[in-house]
Parts: sequence; structure tokens; C-alpha cells
Amino acid sequence: MWTCERVVGADLDVEEVIGLYRASTLAERRPVADGERFARMLAGANLVVVARADDGSLIGIARSITDGAYATYLSDLAVDVAYQGKGVGRDLIRVTQEAAPEADVILLSAPAAVGYYPHIGFTRHESAWTLGTRH
Ligand SMILES: CC(C)(COP(=O)(O)OP(=O)(O)OC[C@H]1O[C@@H](n2cnc3c(N)ncnc32)[C@H](O)[C@@H]1OP(=O)(O)O)[C@@H](O)C(=O)NCCC(=O)NCCS
Repeated sequence: MWTCERVVGADLDVEEVIGLYRASTLAERRPVADGERFARMLAGANLVVVARADDGSLIGIARSITDGAYATYLSDLAVDVAYQGKGVGRDLIRVTQEAAPEADVILLSAPAAVGYYPHIGFTRHESAWTLGTRH
């Protein structure tokens, strides 16, 4: 089994988290080669939830930015491939939502996860827009 809890992103071991991004495949779409920038991603996210296996190893993360009252942007959701399909991702989102219950959770899905979010209750939004170079 595993435990899921909110943590302070800046307190996480950056290399451990990068290892999880690689083990989940999300590293393909995140700047894991730039450790300094990745550390800022962790420190700047004000709602970070991690899942750890019983032996303490990091097996999942939900990295979000929230105002705590209206909107939570879930930027990264990643579960170690060895633990996928067991409910860890659903648990990470539950704890994220419980941390700011008045806020809607908003995200941009990775291609491999477009079938996942409707399966766990998310509604597709036809008016989502981004400004930038990554999406
Ligand atoms: C997407 C991801 C976070 C899901 O986490 P997970 O712990 O494997 O998912 P869960 O075990 O909570 O799955 C809950 C349900 O969704 C289903 N599901 C899981 N991944 C799915 C997918 N890609 N498409 C459709 N359904 C999926 C599970 O079968 C399960 O169904 P059930 O409750 O009917 O048995 C994980 O697979 C992952 O890290 N993928 C690689 C990185 C990635 O793409 N992240 C998303 C960035 S937006």
C-alpha cells in the first residue's frame, strides 16, 4: 500500500523527484535536465502532494498551484509505472482537491492521459486556452 500527503515542495529532494518523473514517463515532457529550473518548479508550487510506498520510496506526485479558494491548476501528475493502475493517481487528486475544497481543479492532459481524466470524473472544457510555447 501507500500513503498520500501534502508536503512543502521546496523540502523535497530534487533528484528523488526527477527520478519519479523518469519512472512515470512524464520526464519526456518536463525540463528534468535543468535541475535548477526543476527545483524552482518544486519550490514555486504551493500545493504539492506526494505518495510514498510503505518503504518510504516516492511513487507519485501531484504538483499544483492554487489560490486556495477558487482555482487549483494541476500542472503535473505522475505515478511510477510500477505502481500505475492501483489508485495512486486518484488518491493524489483526492488529497489535492481536499486541500482546497472550494477550488475547481484545472489541468492540461498529457496525450497518454486523455482517457484517464474523464474516467475519474473530470469534464472536458472546450474553451481552454494557453499563451506560451509549450502546448
Ligand atoms: C496518468 C497517471 C497519473 C494515472 O495514475 P494511476 O495511479 O495509474 O491511475 P489510477 O490507478 O488512479 O487509475 C484510476 C482509474 O483510471 C484508469 N486509468 C489509468 N490510467 C488511464 C489512462 N491512461 N487512460 C484511461 N484510464 C486510465 C485505471 O484503470 C483506473 O480505473 P478503475 O478505477 O476503473 O479501475 C499515471 O498513469 C501516469 O503517471 N502516467 C504517466 C505520466 C502522465 O501522463 N501524467 C499525466 C500528466 S497530465
